[in-house]
Amino acid sequence: MGAVVVYESSFGNTALVARAIATGIVEYMHVTVAPVDDCEAVCKDNDTLVVVGGPTHESGMSRPRTRRIAQERQHHQPVETEGIREWIEELPDDDSQVVYATFDTRVVAARDLPGSAARSAQRELHRHGHRTLAEPESFYVAHVTGPLLPDEEKRAREWGEQLASQLW
Ligand SMILES: Cc1cc2nc3c(=O)[nH]c(=O)nc-3n(C[C@H](O)[C@H](O)[C@H](O)COP(=O)(O)O)c2cc1C
Repeated sequence: MGAVVVYESSFGNTALVARAIATGIVEYMHVTVAPVDDCEAVCKDNDTLVVVGGPTHESGMSRPRTRRIAQERQHHQPVETEGIREWIEELPDDDSQVVYATFDTRVVAARDLPGSAARSAQRELHRHGHRTLAEPESFYVAHVTGPLLPDEEKRAREWGEQLASQLW
């Protein structure tokens, strides 16, 4: 039994949350952390728990256009990248041995608004017939580029631990 935490991150905050989740999971099972672009190379067919997360963009999962906006904000030369939306679309239908869990990062000022990449991701997973283990979870950043609020990495580690303990 093993796990993978697959993430997308424009400014690095979701990457920090992904690593913190993995430090919780590793208390119970082997875990790999991978950006969506690298998952094909490092994710294994026998992973039982797949945790997938990304930044909330325009109340849902990012799109090529919103990722370009994030790149421009960092004065990066725009390059085509894959996000969790595209990654979920490409998942095989016959993975009934796998359980998923979704998370996102969002700005704290939008805490009371319903839009969340984790919720959208879970909806898409269910639409494609995949099973999830837990409610979608959000972790909060102070501003669009970060940083994460204090204690969010601790909360992420605890969430990872909780997920993995359910499969133990
Ligand atoms: C184009 C764009 C749209 C965004 N839309 C939202 C939004 O609708 N709600 C929200 O809470 N945060 C929104 N944000 C803030 C992101 O959620 C924030 O940048 C992200 O959590 C940071 O994670 P990252 O460092 O992994 O990219 C948006 C950011 C960008 C760049």
